[in-house]
Amino acid sequence: MAKAYEHMAHDRHWYRISGGVPLTGSVAAAGAKNSVTKLLVASLLTDKPCTLRRVPDILEVHLVLDMLTELGTTVEWSGPDEVTVHTPKITATTLPDAYSGVNRIPVLMIGPLLHRAGETLLPLPGGCTIGKRPIDFHLDGLGEMGAFVTQELRSVKVHADRLHGTHITLPFPSVGATENLLLAATLAKGTTVIHGAAVEPEIIDLVLFLQQMGALVNVETDRTITVEGVEKLRGAVHSVIPDRIETASFAALAVATDGRIEVQGAQQQHLVTFLNAIRRVGGDFAPTDDGLAFWRERPLTAVHLETGVHPGFMTDWQQPFVLALTQAEGTSTMHETIYEDRFGYTQQLAAMGANVALTDNCLGTGGCRYNRRGHQHSALITGPTKLHGAHLTIPDLRAGFAYIMAALVAEGTSTVAGTRYLERGYEDPVGKLRAVGAQIETIPTH
Ligand code: EPZ
Repeated sequence: MAKAYEHMAHDRHWYRISGGVPLTGSVAAAGAKNSVTKLLVASLLTDKPCTLRRVPDILEVHLVLDMLTELGTTVEWSGPDEVTVHTPKITATTLPDAYSGVNRIPVLMIGPLLHRAGETLLPLPGGCTIGKRPIDFHLDGLGEMGAFVTQELRSVKVHADRLHGTHITLPFPSVGATENLLLAATLAKGTTVIHGAAVEPEIIDLVLFLQQMGALVNVETDRTITVEGVEKLRGAVHSVIPDRIETASFAALAVATDGRIEVQGAQQQHLVTFLNAIRRVGGDFAPTDDGLAFWRERPLTAVHLETGVHPGFMTDWQQPFVLALTQAEGTSTMHETIYEDRFGYTQQLAAMGANVALTDNCLGTGGCRYNRRGHQHSALITGPTKLHGAHLTIPDLRAGFAYIMAALVAEGTSTVAGTRYLERGYEDPVGKLRAVGAQIETIPTH
């Protein structure tokens, strides 16, 4: 069977999209990509089986399952969205070079592999189109826990007798670094205290899963996570939280096209900041029997937003929201404080008729790490603008959804390439978009 990473090399198909109509209907939220992939890594901490439910059928999940298989995990699907992973023995402590730069998951395996095998050599994630995305916080923290780390050009080599607890202060509440240290701390000797930790819902989902596995983890209100190391962890059965980025994407689509979309399974508690923003721009929402419905309540008007760590406005909500802002009256601002280079995608929107200007100034209430350093990290979006069909090439996952939205808002027909980036993180995008009335066809690339 083809390895999932082979599908990252080229598109299997393009999309042809005809836009200009309000989208209405209902879709079911998939499990969260940014939770499930970490839960799969956590399963490496035990020699007992772990079962995950509400597992999204996305390329990213298949990539991680392939990685686990390389390390000795057996993977058994017991339904379309339920998988059992079992690693009785670690049979390899390294992943093939083909996984270098593929995603950010291999470095999260350092802790589990050190605990199970004492050493590992893993591919580095590499930078990407949204910023440099270093992993210094991960490696520094692991070093403080007693890991010996040697970084090479494309990989990282780590060994340790046994990791030990310590106090670690993260310079920034990094999601990945928090997860990495959390995973490593569960079986470390003694207590690990992570100060300045990220507390995104996906991290809390990981904490809940680890707790079910037997870990002793406490999350304080001041971004402190305390982990008392235990000797052994056991298997667990867990349902992945619904994907709050997918939910926000469909909500923004409803508002941008002046339609009404219900997302079954959407949870208000994971979307509080987003829901306020949707209301302020002129949209609204209401609970349904099984989720949330979103629609445009009045003509959209400009808003000022900045992305931030949880409970702030997620950087992954930024792109679909910016697309909605192209339909709002006046000039909106979006200050991106998480990544230094996450507005590159707006160039192709401008070619469709959107009015988006970028600046390296902080257009928010406070400064951020990127103020006046040449990083175009704030955007001014002036609307409403009529968009027209175009040929678009998706540069990354979240920009991908914004491009689909642009094609659906635009009059006329668009073609979209780079669909593999979208499909790595959105489950069945074509099926779900059709379910809300989108005219979208797939065109095989060969
Ligand atoms: C996770 O990335 C998500 N990815 C991202 O989603 C998401 O945008 C991000 O968190 C923020 O919420 C996954 O969960 C797989 P970070 P992560 O460490 O963990 C800097 C998507 O489309 N930093 O919180 O890599 C870093 O450069 C993706 O689903 C360091 O400087 O994000 C960035 O500016 C895109 N050194 C900031 O911190 C480090 O060692 C936040 O990164 C680590 C991070």
